[in-house]
Amino acid sequence: MCWRALTPAALSWHLRIRHRIFVEEQRVIPFTDVDDWDRDPDTVHVLAGRGSVAVGTVRLYRTDTAGRWKGDRLAVLPGHRAGIVGMRLVRFAVSTAAVAGGDVMDAFVQLQNVNFFERLGWEHNGPPVAYYGLPHQPMTFTLSEAGSISESEIPDDACLRLPAARDAPSPLLVTMS
Ligand SMILES: CC(C)(COP(=O)(O)OP(=O)(O)OC[C@H]1O[C@@H](n2cnc3c(N)ncnc32)[C@H](O)[C@@H]1OP(=O)(O)O)[C@@H](O)C(=O)NCCC(=O)NCCS
Repeated sequence: MCWRALTPAALSWHLRIRHRIFVEEQRVIPFTDVDDWDRDPDTVHVLAGRGSVAVGTVRLYRTDTAGRWKGDRLAVLPGHRAGIVGMRLVRFAVSTAAVAGGDVMDAFVQLQNVNFFERLGWEHNGPPVAYYGLPHQPMTFTLSEAGSISESEIPDDACLRLPAARDAPSPLLVTMS
């Protein structure tokens, strides 16, 4: 199930998941992946929940007044991957943009995820480009092909359980420092 991260708590979980994946796990983005789009009140921040546990994110925003949207920050926590959470997040993003009147959604896709996006109906839009120094494939989705949206309120018992960071210091180190 996907939820809009509308409360300060939900937004903080959304940002913590993104930080875990893009800054700590993949190290694609140094220091912080928060940018001006996060400060734009029209940006849509999304959480994916498994039961009541927040496990994934996507972000979307309008990039012009002619129907163009962008989706980014698609992330699913390790331990919850290959369980169609990512697929649900992408479908939620395109449905949300379609309902908001969008025509096309753009994304820069890491090369290892191009097949995943192709299977969801996305098309290549030119050659790969460097994004944060890594090659990404520009892809687009025609929003008239988006399915209907399946959205619900964040449950009262929702929570975030971040897995231990891969390179977190051992308890021994923490004790000794
Ligand atoms: C990319 C990412 C968001 C995908 O999330 P996910 O929840 O694993 O996505 P899905 O489960 O919907 O699909 C992932 C794959 O698992 C497969 N899969 C889905 N359910 C499965 C199941 N029950 N058993 C086996 N495979 C399954 C899908 O077919 C898909 O295969 P593909 O990678 O060859 O396309 C996730 O891997 C991630 O967070 N990666 C790190 C961050 C990242 O790369 N973000 C995207 C930047 S472009």
